Amino acid sequence: MKIISIINLKGGVAKTLTADNMAHVLAVYHKKRVLLIDNDKQGNTSKMFGVHSYDDKSISDVLTARRLDIHEAIKKTRFEGIDVLPANMTLIRANLEVMMDSTRPQQTRLRAALDPIAGEYDYCLIDNAPDINISTINALVASDDVIIPIKIDKYAFDGLAELKEQIEDTRDDLNPRLRLAGCLITCFQRTDADKQGEEWLQSQPEYPVFDTHIRYSEKVTESTFAESPIAEYSRRSGAAMDYIAFVREYLERGKK
Ligand SMILES: Nc1ncnc2c1ncn2[C@@H]1O[C@H](COP(=O)(O)OP(=O)(O)OP(=O)(O)O)[C@@H](O)[C@H]1O
Ligand SMILES: [Mg+2]
Repeated sequence: MKIISIINLKGGVAKTLTADNMAHVLAVYHKKRVLLIDNDKQGNTSKMFGVHSYDDKSISDVLTARRLDIHEAIKKTRFEGIDVLPANMTLIRANLEVMMDSTRPQQTRLRAALDPIAGEYDYCLIDNAPDINISTINALVASDDVIIPIKIDKYAFDGLAELKEQIEDTRDDLNPRLRLAGCLITCFQRTDADKQGEEWLQSQPEYPVFDTHIRYSEKVTESTFAESPIAEYSRRSGAAMDYIAFVREYLERGKK
């Protein structure tokens, strides 16, 4: 099972859309078995796949309970090949609990919980919150790859250096497998600002950038209201074609 963290310290850059649509394309177009982890108290991925709830177990229990079988918290979705480990606002409290309980390892809990199910999925995608906290550190410690979605605006590159440093620290201290797979430009419009932002990023050797960018499309916001992945909601929209191309590029790069 390859574990991929979708992360950026900035909010609203399409982390959730990238995680959810990548999961959908991997499952439906490539017939992969995907576990999608919602690692954000906002629970947007859980809502997208209809599994948001306060009655059932969630990632909060995975991080805090002793000897929990992770299967108890994983939900099936209407898509064959996509299961979701949901999140909700209890994650705020769970984070505090993890921080206060130093009797057990604090940063490796997600990795330990995922270990026993490594053979059940081909890919595990983690949709992170716009933050570095104990949840996101658990995600980085568990991951093989990091993908950073970036929406070009005046503040687009703020926090990038800090995130890179966090990735490097995690690699040095706890997880030598961790690799920055690349930055993915999202919400791309053919404006001078977007083109210049993309060119600037491509000129930075320390930040690999995927050749595919995800075009801005009004259909994307509509698809979130319809709780439908973009390739299902509007197969011919630019964003759907781009997410399909992006997953192909990601898989091709992985072979090299
Ligand atoms: N390709 C796109 N075309 C048009 N709108 C987009 C596109 N990608 C993202 N958006 C818009 O950006 C919004 C935020 O996307 P998303 O929720 O995936 O961001 P996020 O990084 O997960 O945010 P948060 O930090 O709050 O978790 C979407 O609801 C959508 O309206
Ligand atoms: Mg999100």
